[in-house]
Amino acid sequence: MATLEIKNLHATVEDKEILKGLDLTVKSGEVHALMGPNGAGKSTLANIIMGHPSYDVTDGSVVLDGTDLTEEDPDERARQGLFMAFQYPVAIPGVTVTKYLRAVMNAHRVAKGEPEVSLKEFRKTVEAAMELVNVPREFTTRYLNDGFSGGEKKRMEVLQLALQKPKIAILDETDSGLDVDALNVVAQGVNEVAKANGTGVLIITHYQRILHQVKPNRTSILMDGRIVREGGPELVEQIENTGYESIRADVAAATAK
Ligand SMILES: Nc1ncnc2c1ncn2[C@@H]1O[C@H](COP(=O)(O)OP(=O)(O)O)[C@@H](O)[C@H]1O
Ligand SMILES: [Mg+2]
Repeated sequence: MATLEIKNLHATVEDKEILKGLDLTVKSGEVHALMGPNGAGKSTLANIIMGHPSYDVTDGSVVLDGTDLTEEDPDERARQGLFMAFQYPVAIPGVTVTKYLRAVMNAHRVAKGEPEVSLKEFRKTVEAAMELVNVPREFTTRYLNDGFSGGEKKRMEVLQLALQKPKIAILDETDSGLDVDALNVVAQGVNEVAKANGTGVLIITHYQRILHQVKPNRTSILMDGRIVREGGPELVEQIENTGYESIRADVAAATAK
């Protein structure tokens, strides 16, 4: 059972305070939706969880299973079991999906002091992951992200997620303008890895669309650098019906008292 705990997180970008005392917990096997209006600090949070160097954490902590990762570099966080999907994947013409996945797997192993993966074991692991997230066999012989559609890029991401079996995955989907095909790939992948691998998934989104297919166990609303509401899937519905403004008004009224 893995737990990612974010406590009292304060963070600045270029001396501007973006996160103002944020608390959030994500557990293995659960799908946790993080919603909030544009500019609330959602992507800032995702970047800080992964250790992006542009952000200064001025207070608070990011702790995974009791290990404080607040000061660790991105590589160490990945080794400890955090995974973040790339919003802008790079294309590598001439390198097939298979070759890339094997290189990634070996890099992880070497970092842990383990020997490189045998061809047989690699095949077995990739085939299991492909089956889990419904990736067609032809996919692995294509060049990485070269001419991939939006849905295919997401398929690549979800395949890596299934293969790496991280403890906690962060998916920041907000600005990527997913089409229906891409949305289905992500939704199905998230549901499968949460169930089969026990991965805890923090799915970050401005819109409710994807949350119709991925039913979150928990929902948190981020507004102006803080979590202002926490609940179950019913919160998604509430946002859908009344928008963020009603919550903003409630929060303002409560603070004014
Ligand atoms: N690298 C950066 N440089 C300057 N300002 C930034 C940077 N990243 C985020 N911000 C600012 O932080 C605030 C929150 O942005 P962001 O985390 O992207 O919000 P969200 O993902 O919720 O839309 C915005 O006001 C944005 O302009
Ligand atoms: Mg964002």
